[in-house]
Amino acid sequence: MTQRSLPDFPWDSLAPHKERASAVSGGIVDLSVGTPVDPTPAVVQEALRGAADAPGYPLTYGTPALREAVAGWFARRRGVPGLDPDGVLPTIGSKELVAWLPTLLGLGRGDVVGFPGVAYPTYDVGARLAGATPQVVDGLAALGPLTPTTTPRLLWLNSPSNPTGRVLGVEHLAKVVAWARQHGVVVASDECYAELDWRPGSSEPATPSILDPRVCGGSHEGLLAVYSLSKQSNLAGYRAAFVAGDVALVRRVLEVRKHAGMIVPWPVQVALTAALADDDHVAEQKARYAARRTVLRQAVEGFGLRVDHSDAGLYLWATRDEDAWATVEALAGRGILVAPGTFYGEAGRRHVRIALTATDERVATAAERLHA
Ligand SMILES: Cc1ncc(COP(=O)(O)O)c(C=O)c1O
Repeated sequence: MTQRSLPDFPWDSLAPHKERASAVSGGIVDLSVGTPVDPTPAVVQEALRGAADAPGYPLTYGTPALREAVAGWFARRRGVPGLDPDGVLPTIGSKELVAWLPTLLGLGRGDVVGFPGVAYPTYDVGARLAGATPQVVDGLAALGPLTPTTTPRLLWLNSPSNPTGRVLGVEHLAKVVAWARQHGVVVASDECYAELDWRPGSSEPATPSILDPRVCGGSHEGLLAVYSLSKQSNLAGYRAAFVAGDVALVRRVLEVRKHAGMIVPWPVQVALTAALADDDHVAEQKARYAARRTVLRQAVEGFGLRVDHSDAGLYLWATRDEDAWATVEALAGRGILVAPGTFYGEAGRRHVRIALTATDERVATAAERLHA
């Protein structure tokens, strides 16, 4: 049996800082993990309850209603008209899809999987699980002259980015797509923070999708958009997400998932369909995060940190131009726990990631402590 080389799970190294922050009078304000804290919207809970009777096996492909709801959502919210519902597949949250996509696409030894240098760690994990070669790709020019063995088979994009909050614009995405098509590279774009765009005047549609006709010329060939309702709909506990785009690629992924039993439970499929049809709860949740973001940003800047990027998403990407662990320590001393940028790649070593996912009360407490 071969032991796969997975990266260390870094969160354990935060434990001493967590202890220190917890000892502060008034308790810890934990802004380290981006887990939603507000209630799952009533409309979604009701849909889940209404689907509680589920004796039979659900469809791996998802119900036609669900796949059509995804296509409707892309048309309404993402500026992507005419998405073929056959090119939609529900996933058990998006982390599993990110972790298994290289394997599901049949990649393996010798295949290069590219992803951003400062990134959600699961892109790297997915390459390793497949036995493929993980490679940081920060800018296409940095790849140098390509040969068949150095050309990535799969390239991950993440916009808005976790952790930096950077958004890739239409022009940037279009260049990546043109390059990928020229070299036969599949592009998977993780867009799970798309609805949480803080730039002025950026309400609709949300941040550009890889499937946007301005980006891909209307053809979804070679392209997959990965989306999750965990953040926009407070649904992390349901594990409700999907992948959409190239019908042939989606069918290839579906085929393996059918054999492997990677099925979204029926009640979750129903809840996901209801969530996608309701934009009001998304707007409500966005307003909550916007208010928290304003309070935290002011407080963090007042404390002497510079916030970089952070145009969208659920984090402030902040630095005091010092080692990330020194900033983590300083904030833990005020009872606030944040994640060092080091968790997201070497290039993040002088930043910390501060999550907006805490209650109004905890965010206000953090601000008081930072202003004190
Ligand atoms: C960039 C990115 N992709 C994927 C996920 C996974 O989300 P989920 O598995 O809850 O759908 C996260 C969660 O934080 C994320 O930040």
